[in-house]
Amino acid sequence: MNNSNNNIFPVFNSIISKEYKEKQLNQKAKAIWLTGLSGSGKTTIAIEIEKILFNKGYLVQILDGDNIRIGISNNLSFSATDRLENIRRISEVSKLFVNCGVITINCFISPSNKIRQKAKEIIGKENFIGVFINTDLDTCEKRDTKGLYKKARQGIIENFTGISSKFEIPDDTYININTSNRSIDESATQLIKAILPKIQYK
Ligand code: ADX
Repeated sequence: MNNSNNNIFPVFNSIISKEYKEKQLNQKAKAIWLTGLSGSGKTTIAIEIEKILFNKGYLVQILDGDNIRIGISNNLSFSATDRLENIRRISEVSKLFVNCGVITINCFISPSNKIRQKAKEIIGKENFIGVFINTDLDTCEKRDTKGLYKKARQGIIENFTGISSKFEIPDDTYININTSNRSIDESATQLIKAILPKIQYK
């Protein structure tokens, strides 16, 4: 359903602006967008980052693919069209948080440039921080924490990213977190260093 309804009138001027909310929370609200294969470590790193930022006084909300897909996106498959719709929905949710002054950490495979571009467009490029959790397919498949790669190889799961569905490497505007031979702590520290200057209230 496309929302081309001429009878809808969004309200803006009665809402206290993002800037006031950021001031109250003493932070710059950004959407940190983690893209990468299933099992690459997006959620694990996000949890670590949330903890570190919370302890520094930041208000942060994680939005995660597996959680979103049992809720707001529970009617969507992993076809290219449904993935785009999944990302459209979550980007709108993320934008609501950001407009409220909250920093979001978004953990979604978001496998194509088109999908990630859509997220950036909805959230606004000035609020979007792209991060590539760069873990190669071999490593993700060896870990196979959820047993999904095995099922994908057996053909039990279709359209599985990296196996039967493509993952496009993000462009170099994305912060590259190369997780090979590095601990979660090391990856989280690298990411924190990169994002702190962007979320500090000046
Ligand atoms: S996205 O492509 O639309 O961004 P999303 O991040 O929401 O994907 O969901 C990915 C999670 O769904 C994976 O971590 C995995 O646990 C699960 N999953 C189930 N089926 C698939 C599939 N075909 N491809 C990728 N992930 C899948």
